[in-house]
Amino acid sequence: MALTDIAWEAFYELDPVAKSRHLNQDDGRPFHTLMTQQFDRAALDTLGELATRVRFLAKTKEGMAFLSDLLPHRRAMLYFTQPSTRTFLSFCSACEILGMRIGTVRNTATSSELKGETKDDSVRTFSSYFDCVIMRTQVGGLAERMAWVLSNSERPVPIINAGSGKDQHPTQALLDVYTLQRSFEARGGIDGKTVVFVGDLLRGRTVRSLSALLTNYEGVRQVFIAPPQLQVADDVLAILDAHSVDYRLGDTLESVVPEADAIYMTRVQDEWDAEAGESAKIDIERFWFREAYLSQLKSDAVIMHPLPRRHEIPAAIDNDPRAMYWRQMRNGMWIRAALIATIFGCDGEINAFDEA
Ligand code: NCD
Repeated sequence: MALTDIAWEAFYELDPVAKSRHLNQDDGRPFHTLMTQQFDRAALDTLGELATRVRFLAKTKEGMAFLSDLLPHRRAMLYFTQPSTRTFLSFCSACEILGMRIGTVRNTATSSELKGETKDDSVRTFSSYFDCVIMRTQVGGLAERMAWVLSNSERPVPIINAGSGKDQHPTQALLDVYTLQRSFEARGGIDGKTVVFVGDLLRGRTVRSLSALLTNYEGVRQVFIAPPQLQVADDVLAILDAHSVDYRLGDTLESVVPEADAIYMTRVQDEWDAEAGESAKIDIERFWFREAYLSQLKSDAVIMHPLPRRHEIPAAIDNDPRAMYWRQMRNGMWIRAALIATIFGCDGEINAFDEA
């Protein structure tokens, strides 16, 4: 099923699993990448292995020359109208690793949207010049809309959602899972682990994407630690219920530290406050990871964060071997290169080169 088979209104009303059926290519590879429901266990394993191959190939001049010869005939548009450091730069780097050229719009004040051009027309413009659109936006549902518009245009190029509103941030979840795969490689993988999410779980799109993606693993327990006002949304829990996931909600971080295999910290997303200063009234310091907790944390657990951080992780613990957030960030470049290579069908070539 493709996006050409369904009217926009009907597509928009579907749940994520039903939507995801319209987004992949016939062979199961993503065409548009909008949500984590598009990825099953096999796809995650394959993508992680490909990211590792890219990572190793990129270490040598010969390997890098090979990679950068894969997609010199493809151009990527980075349409990032919401602030971004890591996602933007890692996508730029991923494209460059594969030899793609890139164009960017980072501010609608400098594009024709200021003249009143609709977003539908803007994205059709991008597709005239580029072969894929990587986009970040604060407008919920916009990545889906653009994917539908492009699929129904004469130049249906893929959209990669690099964060849309409070909905989803699928490539962040892919890099998070890749980080977990690597961290637990010698401990039986991700199955059976306990992942603790902490902070603003209501408005953090990385949490929505990762929580759903983890349902692909057996026996993963999910614990959500947040102030009541920022506790995880019902749609996230409905997905866990549908998969019979063992999960728990709480509001004390310290007591769950000893049982965690991964602690996923997040910042307060106060850009979504309905009233300025609303989040500042919440006693968030109780949800900061204290240096003192390190002694209660398992020796092989990992501390993650999508970044940027504020005060929820003290810099003093950055050099602890369990502090994974800097490596997690770098993993983003490899998994995004692997994803783009997969979308454009050059994953086979990468695997073959490695065997030569
Ligand atoms: C996240 C995002 O944009 O949702 N950042 C990122 O991409 N690493 C998390 C955040 O902004 O807090």
